[in-house]
Amino acid sequence: MAKLRSKGPDKAKKKVLLGVTASIAAYKACDIINELRKRGFRVKCAMSKDAKEFIQPLVLETLSGQKTAKDLFHLPEERTPEHISLAEEADIILVAPATADIIGKVAAGISDDILTCAICAAKGPVVFAPAMNNRMFENPILQDKISYLKEKGYYFIEPVVGHLACGRNGVGHLAPLEDIIRRVEDLTK
Ligand SMILES: Cc1cc2nc3c(=O)[nH]c(=O)nc-3n(C[C@H](O)[C@H](O)[C@H](O)COP(=O)(O)O)c2cc1C
Repeated sequence: MAKLRSKGPDKAKKKVLLGVTASIAAYKACDIINELRKRGFRVKCAMSKDAKEFIQPLVLETLSGQKTAKDLFHLPEERTPEHISLAEEADIILVAPATADIIGKVAAGISDDILTCAICAAKGPVVFAPAMNNRMFENPILQDKISYLKEKGYYFIEPVVGHLACGRNGVGHLAPLEDIIRRVEDLTK
């Protein structure tokens, strides 16, 4: 199991735990990984329960250069449960794209996969970049959950109006890459 922490020249690099969830925009995690690495971040990925329906762990592993966390129920060699070491070692957790489901789960305190468990154990900044259909994004229950999480200190990178998977235009399109990267840089200064 590859560790986030490493010796040598990488020691000073900030560590991003990138949570990838089951959104049609999951493929955009590839650009996020590439850009973060170009800017000198170390990136490790953790997938939600359903994310593998949209992107293969191998893609994330190849681009990040690190093993992707996807299985809650295994004990790594160092014996610390992986969701705890992920939370301890990350300087920031970025969930991009973030589904309505994961936002609702985190707001409800649900921890039922490796990503939600790591978020639950996090002490540092956690940032969500939602991506979903406009009807889902405008749902008043989801909006309440977002407000609640903001009150509790979680960060959001607001989605924008754009072309959605359903073929229409509306709010729910993942924020532009540069906005996501800028926020990570600001929060890890
Ligand atoms: C084709 C398709 C596209 C989807 N895209 C999104 C999306 O962009 N955002 C979202 O919140 N949910 C989307 N969903 C629903 C989620 O995949 C579903 O709620 C899933 O259980 C979320 O799992 P996760 O939060 O564990 O990743 C989509 C479902 C399908 C079938």
